[in-house]
Amino acid sequence: MDFTNKHVIIVGGSQGIGLATANAFIQHGATVLITGRSPQTLQRAAEEINSPNLQIMAADTSNMNGIADLEKWVAERGKKVDVLYLNAAIGVYAAIQDVTEADFDAQFNTNVKGHFFTLQRLIPHLADGASVIFTSSRVASAAGVTSSIYSATKAALNKISDVAVNELADRRIRVNIVSPGPIQTPGLLSVAPKEVQGFLASRSALQRRGNANEVANTVLFLASDDAAYINGADIAIDGGSIQYMLK
Ligand SMILES: NC(=O)c1ccc[n+]([C@@H]2O[C@H](COP(=O)([O-])OP(=O)(O)OC[C@H]3O[C@@H](n4cnc5c(N)ncnc54)[C@H](OP(=O)(O)O)[C@@H]3O)[C@@H](O)[C@H]2O)c1
Repeated sequence: MDFTNKHVIIVGGSQGIGLATANAFIQHGATVLITGRSPQTLQRAAEEINSPNLQIMAADTSNMNGIADLEKWVAERGKKVDVLYLNAAIGVYAAIQDVTEADFDAQFNTNVKGHFFTLQRLIPHLADGASVIFTSSRVASAAGVTSSIYSATKAALNKISDVAVNELADRRIRVNIVSPGPIQTPGLLSVAPKEVQGFLASRSALQRRGNANEVANTVLFLASDDAAYINGADIAIDGGSIQYMLK
């Protein structure tokens, strides 16, 4: 896969899956902008990747000002976006009776509203034939206890993606979803204690968690010309899940 002269934006690219994907795109010749809220984490990411083809931008996607800043950056740069990877998310796990309004809003604002309006504002800046990829989750179609809001955000994102497939097709823009199972990232470590991660790994047919590069590889494939006829797909990256949280 060759992404030379391709311009990639990764919303939520400073660590975990987003960072691994940024690194992979750069290894394959792309120029990449990654966003995140924390300037320190972005700086660490820049030092790790250490490439003139990487740019960083502190922007909070849950906030319309952050989205406007990103749009301004793209407009001023004057280059069409070839790949838009909408990856940021937060997860707060609590039983329905314990969910606070603040946790509800934070998850929907980041995981759904942020990606919806980023897509909306960047549509004019997408190249014809561009690739849009959302990170959803296997939990979008599950019903695990304490995951009501997080799962609902991912299910909502999937539907937005479905509609975008049809709305953007006249410009040959493809829209696809990657749905990871448990992937070893700082994000997973922060929400799942070790024993929970062991449990999640045990529910994968391959009996392990995935790593961020395994998601990145799928994102690059979807963004590449090799996937030119893949549109509206939702690719599970979970080692083959044993269905443990079915509706
Ligand atoms: N890891 C898993 O097991 C797993 C499983 C299924 C799905 N996923 C999905 O995969 C994606 C990446 O997960 P991950 O585990 O790599 O997460 P992670 O390690 O927590 O990284 C999340 C990235 O998103 C950024 N981010 C979070 N909120 C943001 C905001 N409001 N504005 C801009 N950037 C923001 C973070 O930077 P800042 O914190 O500095 O903003 C960071 O760069 C998420 O959509 C997640 O739901 C992960």
